[in-house]
Amino acid sequence: MSRPPAAADVVVVSNRLPVDHSDDPAEPWRRSPGGLVAALEPVMRSTEGAWVGWPGTADLEVAPFDFDGMRLVPVTLTAEEIELYYEGFSNDTIWPLYHDVISPPGYHREWWDAYVRVNRRFAEAAAAVAAEGATVWVHDYQLQLVPRMLRELRADLVIGYFHHIPFPAYGLYSQLPWRRQVLDGLLGADVIGFQRVADAGNFARAVRRQFSYETRAGAITVPTADGGRRIAIAKAYPISIDVSLYDELARRPDIQARAREIREGLGDRKILLGVDRLDYTKGIRHRLKAYGELLAEGRLNVEDVTLVQVASPSRERVGAYMQLRDEIEQAVGRINGETDTVDYSAVRYLHHSYPREEMVALYLAADVMLVTALRDGMNLVAKEYVASRVGVDGVLVLSEFAGAADELTQAIKVNPHDIDGLKDAILAAVELSPKDQTRRMRALRRRVREHDVADWSERFMLDLEYLRGQRA
Ligand code: G6P
Repeated sequence: MSRPPAAADVVVVSNRLPVDHSDDPAEPWRRSPGGLVAALEPVMRSTEGAWVGWPGTADLEVAPFDFDGMRLVPVTLTAEEIELYYEGFSNDTIWPLYHDVISPPGYHREWWDAYVRVNRRFAEAAAAVAAEGATVWVHDYQLQLVPRMLRELRADLVIGYFHHIPFPAYGLYSQLPWRRQVLDGLLGADVIGFQRVADAGNFARAVRRQFSYETRAGAITVPTADGGRRIAIAKAYPISIDVSLYDELARRPDIQARAREIREGLGDRKILLGVDRLDYTKGIRHRLKAYGELLAEGRLNVEDVTLVQVASPSRERVGAYMQLRDEIEQAVGRINGETDTVDYSAVRYLHHSYPREEMVALYLAADVMLVTALRDGMNLVAKEYVASRVGVDGVLVLSEFAGAADELTQAIKVNPHDIDGLKDAILAAVELSPKDQTRRMRALRRRVREHDVADWSERFMLDLEYLRGQRA
């Protein structure tokens, strides 16, 4: 296969590019707020790197271009492909299936066909831009077939895949009509990374059940096309955030002033905070139910406490997300209608996304952070809150079903399905003494500081380099 002269030594492949296209001709590309860019920037800048991804708009055909020191390679998706591959198979089959079927997954052959077609396009784009022997790092559930396709196109590449969301237990995974193809797609990678040890275990079990390959301590023996075998590593690399960035923002006087302004604006009450994409995996309804009951029972009082719920718009054309939005907005309306006074509101609901500075001001303003996901790969909001609490106080209430719970053991743990337990945990958080807040927050901050995102990408890359060495 012919390669362009500016071939890249490291190629990142993800469904979305780290920039969004806008209609403003003065600034056609804006850096998207996702954490992955921050995570991979050091890797990308230290080498001749390229990033392959979809620019976020239908039918947009753009040649590769440089942005902020990175080479970006846009992959075009038609409106139909967005519907079948992105909204359909990625976000209405894999997403709900991998999040323990909180919403029923749809299994449609048309969606699968589009997924195969689009994955092939990403694999071809990556193969075309990668230098001889380059490292290609593929990201997330939208692109599970890319590792195998890439290996077939370019046997010289070292291929990593990181799975940002949960990998489900075999009993659920086995529902997938294309379960063998997806496992085989992932096994094309040299290193297959997961958020939790449990995810890597679920994957290894699925591989054993479907293919009977030997799996031992994270090493999977995979047969090769020429009758030989190779080792793929499948293990946990919990992702993190750029901790020093949040720490710096949280110390900025203008952001601290903004935090005070937010508190005053809300009547100097205790602030509970929820920050989520508007997604059924996040447990927003459970959170509202628990909070609403605490108010109705008089265990919390609207003059003392308020809940700020940021729910950023997401996947708005997928039915389950439309329905969820209606349910949440109805719940908020009901709680506010029943509890508000003329001066005070129980829930401040914000269906927007905000720049990082404003988020840090909110984290600084919030006494209690509520992360009540029913299932979540990691949940970086929990880590952002901790990193922003430079005063070493504040309380994190954290679902045991979020990947972050494995690391953030000093949070107040909850099972969000248990509404009474959730109510008790919220109350305990509101009432936690300053001394206990500091004790817990100090431990949480230490953990987050010691495992930041640079650490995550280094660990992953080291294992890839180890396998490269084994090959030689
Ligand atoms: C999750 C996924 C990402 C995805 C993000 C936003 O974090 O793991 O792969 O990019 O949600 O979702 P969207 O569908 O807007 O890309």
